[in-house]
Amino acid sequence: MKPIKMMAVAGARPNFMKIASIVTAIEAHNQSQGNPAIQRILVHTGQHYDEQMSNAFFRDLGIPKPDVDLEVGSGSHAQQTAEIMKRFEGVLLREAPDVLLVVGDVNSTAACSLVASKIAYPPPLERTRPLIAHVEAGLRSFDRSMPEEINRLVTDALSDFLFITEDSAAQNLKKEGVVERKIHWVGNTMVDTLLSHRAKAEESTILSRLGLKASSETDNVRQYALVTLHRPSNVDSPKTFGGILEALSTLAKKIPILFPVHPRTANRIREFGLEASFRFANEVSALDFTSAQIHCVPPLGYLDFLCLTSHASLVLTDSGGIQEETTVLNVPCVTLRENTERPVTVSRGTNVLAGTRKDDILRRAEEKLRESPKNQPPKYWDGRAGARIIEVLVRELGVMPSTQ
Ligand code: UD1
Repeated sequence: MKPIKMMAVAGARPNFMKIASIVTAIEAHNQSQGNPAIQRILVHTGQHYDEQMSNAFFRDLGIPKPDVDLEVGSGSHAQQTAEIMKRFEGVLLREAPDVLLVVGDVNSTAACSLVASKIAYPPPLERTRPLIAHVEAGLRSFDRSMPEEINRLVTDALSDFLFITEDSAAQNLKKEGVVERKIHWVGNTMVDTLLSHRAKAEESTILSRLGLKASSETDNVRQYALVTLHRPSNVDSPKTFGGILEALSTLAKKIPILFPVHPRTANRIREFGLEASFRFANEVSALDFTSAQIHCVPPLGYLDFLCLTSHASLVLTDSGGIQEETTVLNVPCVTLRENTERPVTVSRGTNVLAGTRKDDILRRAEEKLRESPKNQPPKYWDGRAGARIIEVLVRELGVMPSTQ
């Protein structure tokens, strides 16, 4: 039987955990002699490229070296999207995969889907274009000022397979007129990777290197809060960033705050002259937590960050993925946004939306610091999402016509 040729695209940090799950599921499928076999081609667009934003994740997660690296780097949305499209087109024509699998909502996701939807493979190939599979489809913040919302809408509109993580996604897609047979509720690939790496993350020495203790319910001592912040809407506006900063500075008087700083945010701190509010450590080494400042370290690898999240008393974040990870880890999470495209993290998880105003953030943080949640994870967040995706693709590709 002819193998299925599957191209998977990764571009930016939050993609790597999802791709790791897919790669593992493909390997398991091939080892189980499942027919037809899958020939995997891994493409890295190079949207993220720094050691800590990219390579560290490939290493920590054991993702194989990409077969193709487009090396696009940073740029404005238009420049970055266009550059990915230009460089990806040749790769797609050369490799002519049966399926293009894209994950999440970054510029690489939308750019590669757009190229795939209009490509015309030359004869004698049976297919004229790859089928497009979107992992983490259907999520909606209903906020079109978010670049990711545009990427989600575009990618979903072009996809043949919509793999969803929660019920809200099915509702959103149906309202947009997507036919039900395209929607597959499979669970969460990011959670697959979290569960399969949790034991390894426990071996991380990050807590002792930073001079932190794990927060424990039994002694009721709240040891530290973990912060991440990188959304343009939060950090590109001095007013919004200033409000969040005031809240964090007040909170830092109650509980040590650790803040691994995203490069975008580091740039803004410098541009806005906000350095005095933070205490920066260039190396990950013991910090002086007697000082009530916000303690900043460079971006961390996957295992160190997972270890820190697991043992935090509280996480404050504007990341979508971290809302999900804290839900599974039962760690209280305050989201520094007005909306979330992942409502299950609020209804079934540990997440609360605080917005970006100082008083609201402080109120929510104090409420959450008193909680010790013990929730059951959302449906199918059980470590098998990647396997379900591969099962669906193998089954359906066998019966679908090769031209569309
Ligand atoms: C991107 C994604 C966002 C995701 C985030 C996770 C889009 C539209 N945005 O946002 O959805 O949540 O990644 O991190 O796709 N930079 C570096 N090194 C890197 C990468 C970036 O220094 O490896 C710096 C550059 O100055 C760059 C800035 O960070 O201009 C922002 O990077 P970019 O990829 O444009 O957007 P993110 O804010 O990271």
